[in-house]
Amino acid sequence: MKRVLLIAVLLLAGAGIVWGAGTKRKKPLPYDFGSVSISNYSQQAGMAPVRFDHWVHRKNYTCRLCHVDIGFGMTANSTKIRAADNMKGYFCGTCHNGVTTFKKSRIFASCATSYSQDDLKRCGRCHQVDRDPALQESFETFAATMPREILGNGINWSKAEETGLLKPIDRLEGVSLKPAAMKVQDDFALKAKIDGMPDIIFSHARHTVWNGCELCHPDIFVGVKRGATKYSMIELFEGKYCGVCHDKVAFPQTECKRCHAKPV
Ligand code: HEC
Ligand code: HEC
Ligand code: HEC
Ligand code: HEC
Ligand code: HEC
Ligand code: HEC
Repeated sequence: MKRVLLIAVLLLAGAGIVWGAGTKRKKPLPYDFGSVSISNYSQQAGMAPVRFDHWVHRKNYTCRLCHVDIGFGMTANSTKIRAADNMKGYFCGTCHNGVTTFKKSRIFASCATSYSQDDLKRCGRCHQVDRDPALQESFETFAATMPREILGNGINWSKAEETGLLKPIDRLEGVSLKPAAMKVQDDFALKAKIDGMPDIIFSHARHTVWNGCELCHPDIFVGVKRGATKYSMIELFEGKYCGVCHDKVAFPQTECKRCHAKPV
């Protein structure tokens, strides 16, 4: 009986009732899932906050490239990006410098200290006063070409990569170091610790394509020996361990069966 109760409580927590607080977590639209508002300095400087969309970028680049090589933090607003850094070619300016190309077209430049009325349009692509309806339209067009999933972006990103529809770039010349050859670990099952709850299947291979090794080890998972660190579903809902990515950018934790996949 207790077991059923715990699962019911977890389902509620997963469905969006924040543990203990009793307030509803908002469920973003497919287009808004993985969108980050960056606003440490813009508003004081009279600029709108910056909107960064993961879907725009993750279809082209791996998580590892940005979060390891370029050095963006894994929490919104933790990186403390300055306009001056972008202008020197760091952070957004690694690509958004008006010179670097993607699919043969130049990626628009980021911040500037002097600019014309015309340049302001460019500023507004990142420093967004209102959400841009054209960008939402391009999301719908893009999503229609991808394998579907119910929640999150409504896209099965893993399948898109696996079937070759997407080939995210993992290294940039002059930014990324030469990769060290690492043997990819085998898939393994994690015990759900409760009878009737399917065990979790964790695939190193499916994660390494996006995350390399360094995004998880040693910051999120010490990874010396499986089972050495104990984690619970409540901690995941709080944004720890698997919850660092799942719910914010990778598919949400309400898709219980995608992780609890091992037949009972
Ligand atoms: C590619 C995206 C991008 C574009 C385009 C862009 N910015 Fe920024 N800008 C950022 C980010 C990210 C920050 C950090 C935001 C924050 O933390 O508030 C920032 C911060 C700023 C700041 C805050 C002051 C500071 O010291 O950091 C100013 C001022 C600024 N940008 C001006 C501009 C102007 C003017 C333009 C247009 C010529 C522009 N930006 C275009 C991404 C962009
Ligand atoms: C083009 C670069 C880029 C790519 C690719 C990218 N990210 Fe991010 N990510 C960012 C930036 C920028 C931020 C905001 C950092 C800040 O505000 O300090 C961010 C923030 C995050 C956050 C925190 C979100 C929040 O709401 O607190 C998570 C989690 C995250 N990324 C995971 C991922 C995962 C997983 C992938 C791959 C599927 C990925 N990122 C791909 C640039 C990127
Ligand atoms: C690794 C390279 C890279 C980095 C780093 C990067 N971008 Fe981009 N960004 C791109 C490319 C390429 C595109 C064009 C994508 C496309 O058309 O498929 C783009 C497009 C965009 C767009 C336009 C979306 C649209 O269609 O109007 C915005 C806004 C944007 N980036 C903001 C940012 C911000 C803010 C940062 C830093 C926090 C950032 N980007 C960091 C490569 C990058
Ligand atoms: C998405 C996160 C993630 C990525 C990416 C990742 N790992 Fe792991 N790794 C884990 C988890 C979870 C465990 C289980 C141990 C734990 O909980 O710390 C683990 C365990 C391990 C272990 C111990 C294995 C065992 O059987 O006890 C090794 C070795 C390891 N990882 C190496 C790697 C290498 C090498 C890469 C890159 C090729 C990599 N990992 C990429 C999450 C990850
Ligand atoms: C991102 C993957 C993921 C998703 C999605 C997920 N779980 Fe879990 N779940 C885990 C992991 C990892 C553990 C811990 C396993 C361990 O430590 O051996 C766990 C453990 C559990 C446990 C065991 C008790 C505990 O707290 O450790 C229950 C019950 C559970 N999950 C229920 C759910 C329910 C209900 C959902 C959907 C609302 C869900 N899970 C979604 C990964 C996931
Ligand atoms: C560093 C970020 C990160 C962490 C931490 C992480 N994942 Fe993932 N995971 C991803 C990304 C990115 C994908 C690709 C799918 C997506 O983005 O929705 C993914 C995909 C998956 C898939 C689908 C694989 C497939 O091919 O269908 C499962 C299942 C999964 N993760 C379980 C877990 C579990 C369990 C943990 C914790 C032990 C975990 N993940 C930790 C980023 C992460």
